[in-house]
Amino acid sequence: MREVRVRVPAKINLGLAVAGPRPDGYHDVATVYHAVALYDEIVAVPHDRVEIETHGEQADLVPDERGNLAAEAARLLARTAGVDAGVHLTVVKRIPVAGGMAGGSADAAAALVACDRLWGTDLPREQLLQLAATLGSDVPFALLGGTAVGLGRGEQLTPAMARGTYHWVVALADGGLSTPAVFAEIDRLRQGRELPDPSVPAELMAALRRGDPVELGQALSNDLQPAALSLMPELAKTLEVGLGDGALGGIVSGSGPSVVFLVENAERALDLSVVLSAAKVCRDVIRVTGPVPGARLIEAVRG
Ligand code: C5P
Repeated sequence: MREVRVRVPAKINLGLAVAGPRPDGYHDVATVYHAVALYDEIVAVPHDRVEIETHGEQADLVPDERGNLAAEAARLLARTAGVDAGVHLTVVKRIPVAGGMAGGSADAAAALVACDRLWGTDLPREQLLQLAATLGSDVPFALLGGTAVGLGRGEQLTPAMARGTYHWVVALADGGLSTPAVFAEIDRLRQGRELPDPSVPAELMAALRRGDPVELGQALSNDLQPAALSLMPELAKTLEVGLGDGALGGIVSGSGPSVVFLVENAERALDLSVVLSAAKVCRDVIRVTGPVPGARLIEAVRG
C-alpha cells in the first residue's frame, strides 16, 4: 500500500466503577464504554523508520515518536509480525489531549489498523485486540467502538445490548488531567474504606436496553469523579451549569477533565452548548452523538 487512512472515535464512560489498587498498580474496573462521533484521523505511508507528526489545535501537547503511543503501536506490530519496515504517521487530532476521552489510546488503535493494512500483515482481529490490550487499557475499546462493558483494567470487552442514538454535549476543560494522578487521588480519598467489587449498575444496562435517555441520564456514574473534582475544583461549576440548565445527566468522562451532558435531541444540545459557552465554564464545547463504530479504514491507496 502507498497510503492508508483510518478514522477513530473518542470514548466516554457511561459508568465507571473502580476497585482499590492491585499489586501491579492498576485498578480493576467495571465500566461501560461508549464511542462518540468525535474523531482523530491517521494517515500512514511507508517510511524507513517509525515517525509521527501531529496536526490540530493541541498538537504541541502530543509527544513525538519517542513517547507516543501510536508510534509504540506501530513498533509493537512490526516486532510481533516480523516486519522489517517503518511508517510515517500523520495524526489529525481532534480528540482532546489528556481529556478523559482516550485520545492517545484511539491513535494507538488507529495506528494498529493502519499499519496492519499498510504492511499487509493482516492479523486476525483477536490478535489485534491482544496487542491493543498490551498498549493500554482503553486501546481495545477504540478498535471495537459502539457501547461495551469493560472489565479487568477495562480491556476485557463485551458489546452491550444498547438501543438508540444519544446526544451529548461535551465541555472541554482548560488543561488536562493525568490518568495515573486521578487514580492515585481516588485511592487517597478512599483510604481505609472497605470497597465493594466493582460492578456495572443494573439501571444503566436497563436504560441502554430500553434506549431511554431519561433513565440513562439518571444512571450515569463515575467513581473517579470525586478525584477529578478534587484535582480540578472548577469542574463543579461546569457540572452545576449543565445540570442547572436541565441536562438529563452529567458526569466527568473517565479520569476527566472533560464533562459530558446527556440531552434529549440535537436542538437541546445546541441550546446547552450556548449556555455553557456563555457561562465561560470551559475552554470549548462540542456536540456529539453515540454510539459509533471503532477504528475504521477510510481509504487504502495501492502502489
Ligand atoms: O492502561 P493505561 O496505560 O492507559 O493506564 C495509564 C495509567 O492509568 C496506569 O499506569 C495506571 O496508573 C492508571 N490505570 C489504573 N487502572 C486502570 C487503568 C489505568 O490504575 N484500570
